[in-house]
Amino acid sequence: MESQDIFDRGNWGSKVAFVFAASGSAIGLGSIWRFPIMVGLNGGAIFVLCYLLSVFFIGLTVLLAELAIGRHSQKNLVGAMKLIKPGTPWKGVGYMGIITGVFILSYYSVVAGWAVGYLYKTITGAFRGEVTWQASDSLFRSFAADPLAVVICLFIIIVITTFVISKGVKGGIERWSKILMPVLFALIIILSIRAVTLPGSGTGLTFYLKPDFSGFNLNVLFYAVGQAFFSLSLGMGTMTVYGSYITKKENLVSSAGWVCFSTTLVALLAGIIIFPTLFHSLQLTPEQFKQEFEVSTGLMFQAFPIIISKMPGGYIFGIMFFILLLIAALTSTISMLEVPTSYLVDEKKWKRKNAAIVIGSIAFVLGIPSALSNGGVRFLTKANFMVIMDLVFGNIMLAVGGVLICLFIAYSWKVRNSLKEISIGSKSYKLTALWAFNIKYLAPAAVILIIVFIVIKNIL
Ligand code: PFF
Repeated sequence: MESQDIFDRGNWGSKVAFVFAASGSAIGLGSIWRFPIMVGLNGGAIFVLCYLLSVFFIGLTVLLAELAIGRHSQKNLVGAMKLIKPGTPWKGVGYMGIITGVFILSYYSVVAGWAVGYLYKTITGAFRGEVTWQASDSLFRSFAADPLAVVICLFIIIVITTFVISKGVKGGIERWSKILMPVLFALIIILSIRAVTLPGSGTGLTFYLKPDFSGFNLNVLFYAVGQAFFSLSLGMGTMTVYGSYITKKENLVSSAGWVCFSTTLVALLAGIIIFPTLFHSLQLTPEQFKQEFEVSTGLMFQAFPIIISKMPGGYIFGIMFFILLLIAALTSTISMLEVPTSYLVDEKKWKRKNAAIVIGSIAFVLGIPSALSNGGVRFLTKANFMVIMDLVFGNIMLAVGGVLICLFIAYSWKVRNSLKEISIGSKSYKLTALWAFNIKYLAPAAVILIIVFIVIKNIL
C-alpha cells in the first residue's frame, strides 16, 4: 500500500476554486457541442424549456446529493457507499458509474479530438475568407471520415488527460480551470453578440427561444433530462469525487447553484451562437429546418467556421475559440478519468499514475470504433456507433445512476442525515423541504417514468 496516495488527495484551496473546477467538469462539449444537437433534433425552444426545468428540478437536486455524499465520506462513490452503508449492494451504483464514465470518456474524447483537428485547420488557414454552409459541411464530413486523423486526435486527447490526472488534483485540474474558464466565457459572449447581429438571425432565435408546444412529446423530455445529467456531470460519481475534495467550511448549496448557473448559461449562449448562424447561412424557416435539415454529430463544427469567418480578426478568434474549446473539453475528460482513477487509488491502493495509464488506454481502445463511425465505417449496426454509445451511456446510464443516487439518499442514508451534511457550512438552507421532496419523489419518479415510457414505446 502506498500511504502517500491517501495524502495526495488534497483539498480545493477555496470555494471559488471548487466552483471553477466543478464548472470546468460540467462546462465542456456537453454544453457547446451536445446541447445544440439536442435542441436541433428535438424541436428547438420546447427542448430548451424542458432542459431548463430538468436542470432546476432534477439536476440541481442530484448535484447537491452527490456533493453531500462526497464531502461526507471524503471518498469516491464506491468508497462512499461502502462507508455509509457497509455490506449493501449500493456500492454497485459506484461500479456502474465507473463503467459509464470509461465509455463516455471514450467517445467524448473523439469529439474533443475533432477540436484538435479544427484548431490545426484554423491555424493553417482553412477558414480564411467567406465560409459557406456547403463548404463547412463538406470540410467536416471529409475530416471526420479520415480514419488516421481522427484516431491520432483521439490519442492526443487521451494522452493529455492521462498526464494531467496522473499528477493529482491540485497540480492538474485546479490550475487549469481557474485561469481559463473566464476567458472561454468572454469569448462565447463576443461570438454570440456577432451571431445575433447577422442578417436573418431572427429566424434562428425564434426557433431557439420561442417554444412550439405542439412539438412536445416524451422523447423531448427524455433527451432534456439526459442532457441535464450529462451537462452537469451527474449520475456517475464525478461530482461525488469533486465533493470529496471540498472542506467542511464551504457552502454546498451555493456552490451547486453556481455550477448549475454557469453551465446552463454557457449552453444557452452556445445555442445563441449556433442557431442564428445556421439560419443566416441556410436561409430556412423554422418549419423547413425541422423537416429538411439533417442534424449531424458535427453541427457545432459545421457552424463555427461560418461565424468565425464573419468576425473582424476571425483568424485569431478562431484559434482562440478552438484552444478554449479544447481546454473546456479537457477539464471534462480529466474529471471523467478522475472517477475510475480515484477508485483504484483509494480502494485498491494503486499508484495514481498507473491507474490513470491503464484506464486511459482502455478508453482509447474503446474510442476507436466511435472515432471511425462518423465517416462511412459502420460498426456492428447500421447506425452511427458513437450516437448509440451516447444514447446508452450519455443519456440512459447517467439518468439511471442519478435515480439510484436519489433512492440511496431517500431510502438508505436518509434525507435527514444528508441534510446534516448539507447544513454544515450553509446554515440558512431554506429550500430543505423542496429538496427533500425532489429527492424522494419528484426526481426518481419523473426519470423512472420517462425511461419506462420510452422503452415501452420503442420496444412494443
Ligand atoms: N459535463 C461534461 C460536459 O458537459 O461536457 C461531460 C461530463 C463530464 C459528463 C463528466 C459526465 C461526467 F461525469
